[in-house]
Amino acid sequence: MDLTEKESAEELFHAQAHIWNHMFSYLNSMSLRCAVQLSIPDIVHNHHQPITLSELVMKLAIPKTKTACLFRLLRLLVHSGFFAILNEGYVLTPSSRLLLKDNTNRVSPFLKALLDPIMVTPSHFLSTWFQHGDGLTPFEATHGRSLWEYVVQDIELNNNFNEGMACDTRLTMSVVVTECKGVFDGIRSLVDVGGGTGTAAKAIVETFPTMKCTVFDLPHVVATLEGNDNLTYTAGDMFESIPHADVILLKWILHDWNDEQCIKILKGCKEAISSRDEGGKIKKVIIIDMLVDDRKAEHKSTETQLLFDMLMMTLQTGRERTEKEWEKLFLESGFSHYKITVILGLRSLIEVYP
Ligand SMILES: C[S@@+](CC[C@H](N)C(=O)[O-])C[C@H]1O[C@@H](n2cnc3c(N)ncnc32)[C@H](O)[C@@H]1O
Repeated sequence: MDLTEKESAEELFHAQAHIWNHMFSYLNSMSLRCAVQLSIPDIVHNHHQPITLSELVMKLAIPKTKTACLFRLLRLLVHSGFFAILNEGYVLTPSSRLLLKDNTNRVSPFLKALLDPIMVTPSHFLSTWFQHGDGLTPFEATHGRSLWEYVVQDIELNNNFNEGMACDTRLTMSVVVTECKGVFDGIRSLVDVGGGTGTAAKAIVETFPTMKCTVFDLPHVVATLEGNDNLTYTAGDMFESIPHADVILLKWILHDWNDEQCIKILKGCKEAISSRDEGGKIKKVIIIDMLVDDRKAEHKSTETQLLFDMLMMTLQTGRERTEKEWEKLFLESGFSHYKITVILGLRSLIEVYP
């Protein structure tokens, strides 16, 4: 029997289009990357009124022969909601405003880092990776070293990555310190483990000036950074030892690591908060990370979380976790209870108590 007889022609073409859509989704990423590399969002923004195609060609200083191709690039980006058309000119949308160079919450450095060929190439070898049990990540199998070892020697990638993290943290922390103020009540000292260039810690000490914050990260991230009375930079390895404080912050850290590694980090955090006995009443770990819940979230949000999960599988040993998976980590690391606040879009704030 011809298997295709079971489905109507309409269903078959729908299935074919579904496959095509997935086959070519990478062109969504690459078209957006192209627009950011050409600074199209900034050009549209700086024009202060809808910009026509020919005005855009002139501002971009690209050959006029590329006009029709530029139209096609923008047609896709209008379709996917990155630009809109007003009075026959292109205008920004909320998504492309987040790509502007002078937007403090800009996503463009993160986009540049994560769509760099160095980051994308390992995904070409996922099937080969599945067939090997050598314990390497696809990134390590492709580039011969871990992501953190790689970025040390690629200055542009390192800068884009760290700037991308800093911009994300600025947006996230602006919400955390205003809408979750209570989370920081009574805390005298906090260590931001894997705190990057210190954006989260700066937002915290600005809002809570009596608090002492330490930013703890790898030497190549913090080596050249200078702190002040309330903010200290300390270089180290979180798998070795974590500086003592009332509270440890782990923003976008644990999703990079597998369960065994997370338990090691969390046990280190527990030790860091427990060994401090100077009368501080608040002792906890604050985690900002994703919580996958495909029963509650809308389809597109869950899809984005699952894409992040595949990214973690490709670049790192980590994963995005459900509440059950988080709970298992906390209990196995010796913590007794936790509280989840769903406030940050695709991510949540989790307070974990010894
Ligand atoms: C995904 S980034 C998150 C940065 C920051 N928490 C944020 O959200 O903006 C992970 C951070 O962990 C740091 N890191 C990786 N391995 C580390 C280690 N063994 N010890 C300390 N920090 C580490 C990286 O350098 C990087 O800054």
